[in-house]
Amino acid sequence: LRATVHFSPATVREESVRGRTVVVLDVLRASSTIVTALAAGALGVIPSESLEAATEMVVKLGRDDTLLCAERDGRRVDGCDLGNSPREYTAEEVADRLIVLATTNGSRAMVRCRSAARLYVGAYLNAGTVVSALEGLDEVVFVCAGNDGGFSLEDAACAGHLLHRLEEVTGEEVEPSGDGAWVALRLGRDDSITPLDLLQRSSHGRRLITDGFAEDLPVCAGVDLHRVLPVLRDHVLVRS
Ligand code: MLT
Repeated sequence: LRATVHFSPATVREESVRGRTVVVLDVLRASSTIVTALAAGALGVIPSESLEAATEMVVKLGRDDTLLCAERDGRRVDGCDLGNSPREYTAEEVADRLIVLATTNGSRAMVRCRSAARLYVGAYLNAGTVVSALEGLDEVVFVCAGNDGGFSLEDAACAGHLLHRLEEVTGEEVEPSGDGAWVALRLGRDDSITPLDLLQRSSHGRRLITDGFAEDLPVCAGVDLHRVLPVLRDHVLVRS
């Protein structure tokens, strides 16, 4: 398998993703939230590129069975039903509902990649399901949501975790296409640091701890907690 890893959507051009299999990663926290929401029975999640676009969409759909969910600076935006903490996405809140989600980096990265042939959302929470979906493919592109156009440790490490698990499952070495995949693979092969330690030492993780979201970290570090693979169909992320 030939793998490309973009550490930020800033390096993703239309032709980098069009027609390819793409996995978007935002471990802290949009990907983890989406996986949790679908596992809790949400009908689907519409990722939005902005709060305005999300609000317009919810006005169009009506608010009976649709939730407006958005985060800015990590916190729930006033007037929204939920923020971006996976712990908010309980069955009681989201089962049988459609979610429109606007986050600072993650949901925008998903929108940016929507010309992919297949767009999956990956996290530690659904690592095994992502690995199964990639088995047998010739090529995959990982897009890390990153942090305001820059690198984020947890997304790069999760890309590496997925690639290394693919190596273990298939017994074949992944062929890195470019420097990003090479670095991610090295991170993934290093088992001296657990996902939770890694999230706790990442700058985004430290900010979440300061902002009162420390309990989100063990949730987002829960490897294989859900057998859910979010896939984009007609602008909606649904269970594959
Ligand atoms: C993002 O999209 O930037 C993140 O998911 C932010 C967050 O942790 O809420």
